[in-house]
Amino acid sequence: MTLTTTDLHNFLQTRRSIRRFKPDPVSDSVIQNILSTATYAPSAHNRQPWRFVVITSFAVKIQLADAMAEDFERDLLRDGMAPEKVQSQIKRSKERIASAPLAILLCLDMTEMDSYPDEKRQQAERMMAIQSVAAAGLQLLLAAHAEGLGGVWVCSPLFAQETIQKVLDLSESWEPQGMFFIGYPDELPKNKELRDLQGLVKML
Ligand SMILES: Cc1cc2nc3c(=O)[nH]c(=O)nc-3n(C[C@H](O)[C@H](O)[C@H](O)COP(=O)(O)O)c2cc1C
Repeated sequence: MTLTTTDLHNFLQTRRSIRRFKPDPVSDSVIQNILSTATYAPSAHNRQPWRFVVITSFAVKIQLADAMAEDFERDLLRDGMAPEKVQSQIKRSKERIASAPLAILLCLDMTEMDSYPDEKRQQAERMMAIQSVAAAGLQLLLAAHAEGLGGVWVCSPLFAQETIQKVLDLSESWEPQGMFFIGYPDELPKNKELRDLQGLVKML
């Protein structure tokens, strides 16, 4: 099959966040393809500071969901949310992890990035590493799309970093950044409104 430029743009433009999945598992070879393609992302100094934790075990997903829910509950109650509303949000978030055939946790590892004595450059270096990890995240979603899978990026790990490190027995240098729920789509996402390109671009 020869892909045209239009086909490739169409492929990129048709990736959507999918949050409901069929129960069918994702095979190991497909998981490897997705991870491998994610690692082709560009990275600052080519240091490739992304790390991945692949979770297919239902027991591990539940353990993780329960632990993250404790942090989530504490934060929402502290925000002043009504306890019943907190419980329904927690239930929803646990169900989302449990019902995804595949969860991939995306982590940042700063150990091979450069170090600077001053805060300003150190912050810039960290930002570069985070941007690199995000590039791998997008590449991962696109690779899943190429495999006919759907996926969604969720940010909840950012709010439960230490808890996740503990539950999954991760090295301290693996800093959770985001998680991807992936599986064969069981929904058709609604049309998405895109901002007008003209307002987003300055042509010089
Ligand atoms: C950094 C990041 C964090 C996100 N976090 C969440 C999340 O916590 N929960 C969720 O349902 N979707 C999350 N999303 C998905 C966005 O809601 C989604 O990409 C956006 O609405 C555009 O829709 P599309 O992906 O279908 O194009 C996240 C996306 C990104 C890039």
